Amino acid sequence: MLLMPNPVDELTSADLDRVKDDLLCRLRSVVPSQEHVLAHWDQLDEIAKAKLATQIDDVDFDLLRTDASRPPLHPQYEASLQPPPVITLEEQSSSHDAFLEGELCLQEGRVGVVLVAGGMGTRLGFEQPKGMFPIGPVSGNSLFQVLIERIVALGRRYGVRIPLYLMTSDVTHKATIRFLRENDAFGLNPDDLRVFCQGTLPAIDATTKKLLLASPGELATCPDGHGGFLDAARKSGCFEDMARRGIDVLFYGQMDNPLLLIADPELIGHHLLANADITTHIVRRACSTEKVGMFVSQGPKVWILEYSELPKEVATATDDDGEPLFWAGNTGAHLFRVPFLKRIASRPNALPAHPCRKQVDHIDEQGRIQQPLEPNAIKFEKFIFDLMHHTNRTALVECDRAATFAPVKNPDSMATDTAATARAAMVKLHTGWLQHAGTEVAPGIDVEISPLFALSKSDLGSKALAASIGEPTFLT
Ligand code: UTP
Repeated sequence: MLLMPNPVDELTSADLDRVKDDLLCRLRSVVPSQEHVLAHWDQLDEIAKAKLATQIDDVDFDLLRTDASRPPLHPQYEASLQPPPVITLEEQSSSHDAFLEGELCLQEGRVGVVLVAGGMGTRLGFEQPKGMFPIGPVSGNSLFQVLIERIVALGRRYGVRIPLYLMTSDVTHKATIRFLRENDAFGLNPDDLRVFCQGTLPAIDATTKKLLLASPGELATCPDGHGGFLDAARKSGCFEDMARRGIDVLFYGQMDNPLLLIADPELIGHHLLANADITTHIVRRACSTEKVGMFVSQGPKVWILEYSELPKEVATATDDDGEPLFWAGNTGAHLFRVPFLKRIASRPNALPAHPCRKQVDHIDEQGRIQQPLEPNAIKFEKFIFDLMHHTNRTALVECDRAATFAPVKNPDSMATDTAATARAAMVKLHTGWLQHAGTEVAPGIDVEISPLFALSKSDLGSKALAASIGEPTFLT
């Protein structure tokens, strides 16, 4: 640990010379040598020097040696993988016990929600944080609004306050805060909203493995992945807040799915009945190349192989009937037992950092800004689902894809996981709800139902609805 003289404004130039010498010594001792990050040191003012020194001091140089091309699994290990047990939709339809158990847990105010919204949304190419993306097919409401209103509606239904822990990153924090303020947090009680920022990890040049500089006094960094939630929640006091409120079940979801079934009572019930540390909503993988993480198991251990790291043999393996062997795909919706989460969060480096190739803007040796069009760098991300390596108690619950999973990842020029496919899924789902309630919806007409109007198909039973709908309609 580098001893930084403190506070910064008391630094003398002799202190800073000593800091530079210490840094140089360290940067030269690592492989590959990283002393280039001090190339612009002499042009920096005192504050910038202190900031850069702190940033360098935080770098885990062992991490930079990670081989981005390493096979994620040893072949022998792959051979012993099994498909994990799943509570299928069929099994769920035969009993209401889980639903009732989940409702009771919600009524007792034991459930909190975390939404992760720190991603860079590179593929979508939307300039703002993805949560601000206007997804409502009729309303144009943002992803933030759709999901937060679901939490508000759940709180009303069960007569409880459901806190939202919203994770941002240095990329999304300011704009998110501003957007939520301007919109009164979409009706969520301000005391029930905690916005906290995740950490970052440095990016390195993919060829030379040298740290990249974003500017003369700043390393290029990226958000540390959705797994950064663990550290960020601990550092920002989320666990204390949960303890104060008596929350022992935490629903975790991603900001980019407008159908996200937040804190679903059925899921919560299965989680409790299974006495699980982690419970996940899974879908049947659409095909062997679908970009979702895939569940595998070995003995009592269940975990996810991320699609970007999937060995082809595992992704395409079939059973005796020629059906996909590993059929369970990750929706990114999990429940965590809070004491488990807190225990693991207290362990240093509980989640590994995975390398992945990415375009990262940086400056070159002459200080000129470079904006590559192709992936030039390796960034590191922690995955929240690596938590599964810390427990033998993971439960998987199948959900109806059409009613729960429509991620917005890609621009509309692509075929899957776009805003267009997500809007179509919303319209299809809500049309089905209305038809079930006896309302005719004219073909090709978009309908959208706010969570504040109905959280599920059965909620429509008690509403006064038109006999038919012939123009785009938003029920709110
Ligand atoms: P993705 O991994 O799909 O990333 O995130 P992304 O940012 O949405 O899109 P790309 O990959 O850059 O195109 C899944 C969820 O995890 C969150 C995202 O905001 C999204 O809700 N996430 C991802 C974070 O909160 N932090 C991260 O560092 C990465």
